[in-house]
Amino acid sequence: SSNRRIIDPIRNPDSEFSLNAKKGSRIVAERRTREVHKAKIEDTTDLRGTAIGEVIGVKEKPADGSNIEQKDNDDSKGLEVSFEHIQEIRKSLPAYQVRSELLQLIRDNQVVVVIGETGSGKTTQLAQFLNEDGFCNNGRLVGCTQPRRVAAMSVATRVALEMGVKLGNEVGYSIRFEDKTSKDTRIKFMTDGILLRETLVSESLDKYSCIIMDEAHERSLNTDVLFGILKNLLSKRRDLKLIITSATMNANRFSQFFGAAPQFTIPGRTFPVQVVYSRHPVSDYVESAIVQACKIHLSTPILNGDILIFMTGQEDIEATCAGIYEKLLDVYAKRTGRQQLSKPEDIEILPIYSALPADVQGKIFEPAPNKRKVVVATNIAETSLTVEGVKYVIDCGYSKLKVYNPQIGLDSLQIAPISMASANQRSGRAGRTGPGFAYRLYTEDSFFDDMYVQTIPEIQRTNLSNTLLLLKFLGVDDLMAFPFVDPPPEQIIMTSLFELWTVGALDNFGKLTELGKQLAAFPLQPSLSKMLLVSSQNGCSEEILTVVSMLSVPQVFYRPKEREKESDQARTRFFVPESDHLTLLNVYSQWKANKYSSHWCRRNFLQFKSLQRAREIRRQLYALMNKKKIPVVSSGTDWDIVRKCICAGYAHQAAKLSGLSRYTQLRNGLELRIHPTSALFGAGDLPSYVIYHELLLTTNEYINTVTAVDPDWLMNYGVLFYNVKRRVEDEDFYTEDTHEKRKDRIDLMIEQFEMKKNIITRQ
Ligand code: CDP
Ligand code: MG
Repeated sequence: SSNRRIIDPIRNPDSEFSLNAKKGSRIVAERRTREVHKAKIEDTTDLRGTAIGEVIGVKEKPADGSNIEQKDNDDSKGLEVSFEHIQEIRKSLPAYQVRSELLQLIRDNQVVVVIGETGSGKTTQLAQFLNEDGFCNNGRLVGCTQPRRVAAMSVATRVALEMGVKLGNEVGYSIRFEDKTSKDTRIKFMTDGILLRETLVSESLDKYSCIIMDEAHERSLNTDVLFGILKNLLSKRRDLKLIITSATMNANRFSQFFGAAPQFTIPGRTFPVQVVYSRHPVSDYVESAIVQACKIHLSTPILNGDILIFMTGQEDIEATCAGIYEKLLDVYAKRTGRQQLSKPEDIEILPIYSALPADVQGKIFEPAPNKRKVVVATNIAETSLTVEGVKYVIDCGYSKLKVYNPQIGLDSLQIAPISMASANQRSGRAGRTGPGFAYRLYTEDSFFDDMYVQTIPEIQRTNLSNTLLLLKFLGVDDLMAFPFVDPPPEQIIMTSLFELWTVGALDNFGKLTELGKQLAAFPLQPSLSKMLLVSSQNGCSEEILTVVSMLSVPQVFYRPKEREKESDQARTRFFVPESDHLTLLNVYSQWKANKYSSHWCRRNFLQFKSLQRAREIRRQLYALMNKKKIPVVSSGTDWDIVRKCICAGYAHQAAKLSGLSRYTQLRNGLELRIHPTSALFGAGDLPSYVIYHELLLTTNEYINTVTAVDPDWLMNYGVLFYNVKRRVEDEDFYTEDTHEKRKDRIDLMIEQFEMKKNIITRQ
């Protein structure tokens, strides 16, 4: 039997793993080892004073965001490489060699599937070819969708550079809450989610002459939904062209789905890549990656080739970057007999993941003279972004995957093994410019025994509430008849519909309600939009607007390694003891009172960039509410009503104190703990009932961003799930007790809900 015990939340959604992430799971074991490893890094931090802090500092964002601003109005970047030189590079791309053939095929067909190696120029060139061929005449647009925000921004920047125009003019991008396009925009890069939302406003997408669905093989949820919508639209709009680009996998499926659409393969040259498997299962892939990267770096000439490391996410990436620096410094110190205090000079380590600011992301494309580049990336570097000059790939074998368990209604990001197709795609990155090597941090056995051939499309493993709400809004009433490339499992459709019904978005017949229509108009999860609507009726939408905006940005508290104590104290000063949501509101309000100052943020260990983004999101949501004539009103200093509205949005995610610092989820009985960073933690007695924003599955099931609630509110807003268990001794329950006394004795329990079956059978 294989040494590696596979954790398979998809095949077995109700396996012990999904219900109880820790028991016997190897991934968690690995992550735990990594904790130890991280602790080790911290130890050395102490030994070396602040120096290591500087080393680790690569990953730290500038607190004042100065870099970003610089880039926006700094054109010197483009001048580094001459325009002529860029054109030469352009013409050398494989896509350019087949330009006229490809354009002819597009003119002759409504749908074309374009297949090509990563880096052949599909993303950057196709839209330009179409523009040059007149597809943007008469004010029409060529739209290109990307599954990832990072890719949309980065590619738009590149194309603007190649065309010699300013980003946001002829070439722009649009991602949720950030629109960098103008009336002059002809080529528009966007996330697939943005195009999907555009279909709500303009069903026939009139302004587009052509849509390129890029990275279709990724099978993101929104891409899959767009496939169905566009399939219907194409028969109504014969003038609309659709181009689907894909790595080799899946291409046949796409052709078939669009009525045997022709395929065009961009010929490309790749070099052989030697795959090296780990002989034994590794216990900590971060540690192994660090060791492997250092081994390569120290044993081969620096300019001989760059290294690309695939990791699962931000946390692992940062640990890897810091670990490599640290290890190299150790080696160099031993060699010279002196402590090295600064960064090693012969290496440039570049992290890339979606939460990273755009300017830092851009660095992976910049040349690093006389240094070896080491890019540590999520699976974004699998196909979306091409880093030139990579000769060595190190693949940890895992990625973060969104997994939904319909039985318990749990949506979570989990670290899961990648598929064989992904593994091969990752290895292929080493053979772009010459023969290369791919080091797989897993055994050959586990490659064959434990990995799926292909990654399961997102639509088959994620909560579909949002998507179904959108489809209902688009008038797709019969979901079973909607053309899905791969239909989602019936059970997921049903639980998602049920969830929509519980928020009041659907009526008993599965039809969209007025509330549902309003919810669909917001680019937010239904529970957050509901919170906004409820707050408007309760006179505190000013406050809830802030809460929702703050929930939509990355972490606002800044915790630099070398100043943890100090920053923790700073955070505590913002705490509102009964609520993390209100703590966020408090941070924002104080920031506002301090004139949105970046200096103030630095002093208080807050991420200025995140707050700025929250402010921008707030501005947009505010405008949207105005447009919809939903009143925006403030409750002043009354924050209890704010908590009540928060409860309205989250009534389905409630938990009850069940022991010393332990909570039980009210609907599915999961045992939960409040995350140690919460304001509720250590603030005296823990509240009997809480609602939470998210669930983190690590070594413990932690709930994050938590608010204490009154069980009365839960009964009100969660009337569909909860009812009151009357105890015999509580005869006088409703009559004599004061509200305060009664609160303590209310015992909520889950109602076995019969109607669930009804609504589902009607579908
Ligand atoms: O989409 P595909 O993988 O076929 O290729 P692409 O993303 O269009 O990349 C074509 C070339 O442009 C590659 O050599 C990339 O390295 C380069 N590129 C770049 O230098 N900077 C970017 N921001 C994006 C691409
Ligand atoms: Mg591409």
